[in-house]
Parts: sequence; structure tokens; C-alpha cells
Amino acid sequence: MCGIIGIVSDAHSGAREILLNGLERLEYRGYDSAGVALVDESTAIYKTAGRVAALRRMVGASADAGTGIAHTRWATHGPPSETNSHPHKDCKGRVVVVHNGIIENFSTLKKALQDDGHQFVSQTDTEVFAHLFEDELAALDKVDLENATAAFRRTISKLDGQYAIVTSVAGLPGVLFAARSHAPLLAGLADGMTLFASDATAVVEHTKQVVYLEDGDLAVATPEGLHLFDIDGKTIERAPQTISWDIEDAQKGGYDHFMLKEIYDGPRAINDALAGRLFPTPPHVRLELGMDDARLRGIGRILILACGTSFHAGMVGKYVIEKLVGIPVEVAYSSEYRYGSEVREEPGLAVAISQSGETADTLAALREARSRGHTVLSVCNVVGSTIARESDGVLYIQSGPEIGVAATKSFLGQLCALYLLAFRLAEIQGTLPASDLRELERGLQHTSRLVDQVLQKSETIAEQAALIAKADSCFFLGRQVLYPIALEGALKLKEISYIHAEGYSGGELKHGPFALLTPDTPVVALLAPDGVYSKMASNIIEVKARGPQVFIVTTASDTEAEQLGDHVIRVPDTEAIFTPLTHAAALHLLSYHAAAARGCEIDKPRNLAKSVTVE
Ligand code: F6R
Repeated sequence: MCGIIGIVSDAHSGAREILLNGLERLEYRGYDSAGVALVDESTAIYKTAGRVAALRRMVGASADAGTGIAHTRWATHGPPSETNSHPHKDCKGRVVVVHNGIIENFSTLKKALQDDGHQFVSQTDTEVFAHLFEDELAALDKVDLENATAAFRRTISKLDGQYAIVTSVAGLPGVLFAARSHAPLLAGLADGMTLFASDATAVVEHTKQVVYLEDGDLAVATPEGLHLFDIDGKTIERAPQTISWDIEDAQKGGYDHFMLKEIYDGPRAINDALAGRLFPTPPHVRLELGMDDARLRGIGRILILACGTSFHAGMVGKYVIEKLVGIPVEVAYSSEYRYGSEVREEPGLAVAISQSGETADTLAALREARSRGHTVLSVCNVVGSTIARESDGVLYIQSGPEIGVAATKSFLGQLCALYLLAFRLAEIQGTLPASDLRELERGLQHTSRLVDQVLQKSETIAEQAALIAKADSCFFLGRQVLYPIALEGALKLKEISYIHAEGYSGGELKHGPFALLTPDTPVVALLAPDGVYSKMASNIIEVKARGPQVFIVTTASDTEAEQLGDHVIRVPDTEAIFTPLTHAAALHLLSYHAAAARGCEIDKPRNLAKSVTVE
């Protein structure tokens, strides 16, 4: 959950800016403290319990080097503090290390090291690495690259848990060592420099050639390039991949916040998710599912695994697949499924949904599903991520980097991927007339324009958000395909504005939560032109009778909305099945504006991090 970056170059300066700029792009992964080590003949370490901006002020404009490592932290072991922030070092200050993940056997290792006389200064698990490596180096006759590499391998072999580690050793200038186990790490290859980073946003400014490290990989980087090997020292050959997006995609582009920029990227995210996948001739939907037609024809049930916003996309997927294909779909929280009882499951298709592709619970659930015989298809955004690599097939949503902690454009991309999956299954299983499917495909292609029109209502939405911003508590209601969107609206509002919010199915509120309704509890109700419109209208009337202000999100030709609610946000008309896209865009804007009205730190909400790589 932390962000790490390292650079080794043939220059004597330049590392400071590369590291600090990279850290700023990685800050979404964790931002409770930050630190940097500039490695030259001696190593200068700067650390702060603040954010990267504070670190930048602390480092100043004169300190620099050609090599260095840096870290932005989301605390796991030890509270956020200057002492606990990375880089950490050994007793002699010879080993300097940054780490993302958790060293699970750290307390046993720490006790043994302390018994041997090592002095620990922090409460982190990471510091054990520095002291272990210190011992291995101390045992060498000579600290040269070959010996130190072997010592690094021996050190890594003592660690259990999850780690992406980058470390330097005094006396070996121009060398960085790295290792990966269940935490993301890539190497960027450029002229005269090699970089390591938790993700590509931190290196894309300098190179588009990257090598994704895999679990069990160790690496030595020099300005000339990268040497990959395994724990036994056996060389691993892996070709670099080319990043397909630019630095502009990882910047705010004039918006006040990444979240706002990414909400406005929504129409493009829809187009990108559909690009190259819909065709006028059969098969009309072409996806890289890792399964042949016979296998797709035989799919009789689907299990969807995901967390948070991705889980909400999965719930929409359930409605859509069950409606169009008629096969049962179960949606499980990854964190529940991974520890669930092993019921007799027919091996089928499991779909793991994850923007980052690194969420620890979803990764574990994916592995569990595979062990139960399921074929796993993942719906991911980050190319080369662990979940993508461990799946039988990957449906990339192609949304580009998402930096705001709250997922927005990727949610729309995930929905599109699930619509496409439903269309493909309906096509190959023959569950819908071809003309209906073509109609739906055209409808989906049109949704980017509809979302664009929703975004043009930003001002009206901001006015309504200003009213919601005054509340302490808020409810979101929806039914059927809009029920997950009610959950999503509530999640977004609470995570970025800190207003307590709950999403409910329209029919459920009277089974208890009615007790909480007061004139100060706004209720946001979602309506679609579907078979439950009148049921939802009755639910709204029941709510209204208890005094809350009702905000309605509905389609353009709804003639009843003004009689039902106090405030109405209209989205363009569309098939009910596509209203998750239009309504979600409206709710993302609503939470954004509510959080902005409350002066919240939108891109980095308290206690959160973008990708949750710990359990
Ligand atoms: C909420 C949000 C989170 C993520 C969740 C799963 O706005 O972003 O709920 O959706 O942590 O993350 P991924 O999709 O990366 O597995």
C-alpha cells in the first residue's frame, strides 16, 4: 500500500527531482509519511511524517545525487511518524532500504537480531531487512557486486510475506538491489539510467520501456540496465513491455483534482473499454477471454469476486448477465470468499474485477477460485498487474492511470467490460435475438455521449451537492440494476466527504433504517424507465412522508420526478440497462462537489490508499 521508487544513473545529479516527482505520482498509494535517500559517496536521508510536498521542502534545492530511493507510506507496522517512515537503515548506515508490503516473520527475525546486538530505531517490519542484509554483508571477505548480490539473495530468502524492496549498499555506488513477492514492482529502462517503481506513473516521464517483476524475482540495476534472477541466482530473461499511455494521462490536466479529471475522462473510458471489441460481422463481440467458443457456450454459472467499487460493478454485471444470458451469477466480496467454506461448486467461470489488479483480497480469492477448479477471467485496468497475470484471460478496461483514490472512470470501464461479456455470452449461447443484441451494442456505443451530457450538468449537480454537504448522514436508494449504483453513490460520498452514507434497495428502507429518517437526512433516489419504476416511486413517497429532502436522479423523459422529489437531476434517456453508467457519472459528480463544498482533501481521503495490497 506504499509507493516506492529508485533510480540508478551514470550522472552525479538529477535523482532528487526524479524521485520526488515520482513519489508525488505514487502518493495515491499511501500518504501518511515520506522519505528519500540520495546515494553518493555518502548517503543523505530525509524523512518526514508529512506528505511529499513537505519532504520536498525539507530536501531543498541543493541536495542531489545520481542514485537514490524514496518511499511514500501507508502505515501498517508502527504509526505514521518520522522515525517509522522509510528509508530505513542498518546499524552502520551501510544498507538503506525502502519497502512496500508486510514482512510477516519480522517479529521473530527482529528478536533474533536484537539478541545479537542489533539496535532498532523504528517499529517497522522493514527495518529487519536492513539488519539482516548488514549481517550478510559483514560476513563477506570483500563487498563487490557478485558477493553483495549473493548476500542479497541470502537475505531475501529469510523473509516471509509480501514485499517490493529496493535497497542500496554503501561502497557499491551505481547499484540498486530489488526483490518482489506479492507486491507490485517494475523496472524502467532508459539511456544511462534504470528505475524501479511501484507503478508506471512514476517512470513514464523517463521511459516507456518497462519490465514487470514477478513474484520470486530479484534484480540488480545499474545505469547500464537490469539483471533479473531467482532466489538461487539463476538468470531470468524477460523482454521489456512498452507503456501505451503518456505522462499527460497521469497529470491533472488543469482540473482541481485528479478525481474531477477522471470523472471527466468517463466518456473516453467508455470508448476505450469498447475500442476494438465490437464488430459489424460475427462474432460481433470479440474479447480476449482465454476461452474457446465451446467453453464459452458451456458456461452455466458465473462467480464474480471483487471489493469496493469493483464489487458494485460486479453487482451490475450480475443483473445484466442474468437478464441477457439467463445464467445465475453470484457476486462475492473477495475478503469473504477467500475464507468461505468450500461448498460443492461446479467448476465454472470466476470473474475477478480489480482496477489496480493488486488488491490482496481479490488476488487471494482468485487463487482460491482456481484451486476450486474455476477458470478465472479478470477485469483489470493496470496492465501486467498480478491479478491480470494470474488469470486465464484478462479483459483490460483500458482506462489509463487512475490516480484519485476514489475510483470513477475505471468503474465506467468495468461496467462496459461486463456489458461486453454479457453480450458475448448472449451471442454465443443464443439467448437473445440477434436484432436485440445489435440494438444493445449500438446503445452501449452511444453511452459515452450520454455520460458526456451528464457531465455538462456539473453546475446543477454542484448546487444540489451544496445542500447535501450540510448533512451528517445521507441515504441512497435504487432498485434492480440501480441498487448497486445506490451502494456506489453512498460509498463515494462517505469516502471523500466524510458524510455518513448508506445505500439501500428501495424496498428495504422500511425494514429498519426508516427510524433514522429526519428532515436533516437527505435521501438520493435513483429512477430508471424499468419494470420497477412504480415500486421505486412508492418507496420515495414513503420516504417523503417521514420528512427528508429527496434528491432524484432520473432520465430526461420521466414526467413524475418533480412530484416525487424536492430536487431532480436529469440524465439523458437511455435503456434502463445502461442507466448505471449515466447515474453513476451523476453520483460521482455529486460526491465530488459535496466533498469540495466541505473543503475535503478529495484525491487523498483520510485513512485510505488507492490499492489495498494488504489484507
Ligand atoms: C472506492 C474504491 C475502492 C476500490 C477497492 C478495490 O472508490 O476505489 O473501493 O474499488 O479498493 O480496488 P481494486 O478495484 O483496485 O481491486
